[in-house]
Amino acid sequence: MTTYNIAVLSGDGIGQEVTPQAQKVLTVVGKASGTSFEFESALVGGAAIDATGGPLPEATLRLCQQSHAILFGSVGGPKWDDLPQEQRPERGLLGLRKGLDLFANLRPATCFPMLVDASPLKRSVVEGTDLMVIRELTGGLYFGEPRGREAVGGGERAVNTMVYTSREIERVARAAFDVAMKRKKRLTSVDKANVLVVSQLWREVVTRVGKEYPAVELDHVLVDNCAMALVHKPTQFDTIVTENTFGDILSDEAAILAGSMGMLPSASLGGKVGLYEPVHGTAPDIAGKDLANPIAAILSAAMLLRYSLDRGPDAARVDAAVVAVLKQGYRTRDIHGEGMKPVGTREMGDLIAREVERSY
Ligand code: IPM
Ligand code: MG
Repeated sequence: MTTYNIAVLSGDGIGQEVTPQAQKVLTVVGKASGTSFEFESALVGGAAIDATGGPLPEATLRLCQQSHAILFGSVGGPKWDDLPQEQRPERGLLGLRKGLDLFANLRPATCFPMLVDASPLKRSVVEGTDLMVIRELTGGLYFGEPRGREAVGGGERAVNTMVYTSREIERVARAAFDVAMKRKKRLTSVDKANVLVVSQLWREVVTRVGKEYPAVELDHVLVDNCAMALVHKPTQFDTIVTENTFGDILSDEAAILAGSMGMLPSASLGGKVGLYEPVHGTAPDIAGKDLANPIAAILSAAMLLRYSLDRGPDAARVDAAVVAVLKQGYRTRDIHGEGMKPVGTREMGDLIAREVERSY
């Protein structure tokens, strides 16, 4: 029997509630498919700061390196907001991305037909949305040097650097073209090439890599225009590739197309071990109340099956179970609508797990 070792880093806030639901679903998949998942938990983020003094303990990184994949929750919260940049919970996540070389972040945004009315945008805009944002995750402003603050002439000066090498652009572009090949073979590269030299290089390199993928239709869109187009006509997009900061912003915007942030999974790939996390944050306002939507975490587990374990058919069962439960009318608070059946985090997890079990 194949055994998969999964590192579980639930982190803070609702991360601690939604991650166990994803584990529950994986456990069911294991039982039904004759494999087994061994979960080992480790500290990250605020929880790690409280216990060890830092957001990414050495033991956590080591466990991740030795696992088949990582289930991640979310990090951060008001309790740690006053800490200096380098010690904040978010550093734990950034350290993992960098430490594990997870340069390609896949963020699908799909508007499920039965959730069309959960989006604050008009049905005519969001209906049929099915896009994938591929965000570069280990470069750009997030990690560029120089960075920091200094005193100047009675005031202060702060700097971050947006920097990319052609190699960094090339590898994420290739990842994006590969994804586009499996989708509708349309790739939009997003940059700010009318102003930034980094973007000019980005555009040149993506165009060059595109020559290796003649079947993919490539176009280039400026980031400001893309931000507008995403809420104006999202159905024009299939696969999007962009640098770190632009991708951070655009993927939150794309979340609105899916009805709720609570619906968006993600996969961070590149190195040996992939990391899977819901796109939403820790949501301190609803944490600990069994109100959070576990679907993003559960769909992230489906991505884990698909991308790290090459178990596409099992992943498809999980995806289908989510759709089935939504069709039955069950809703967490963030996607609630008239005449629907309200459920909490755990119950939503149970319903989806049961549906997965039934599908085998
Ligand atoms: C995300 C988050 C993170 C980011 C934070 C928590 C560091 O917003 O994954 O999109 O900015 O990348
Ligand atoms: Mg973000």
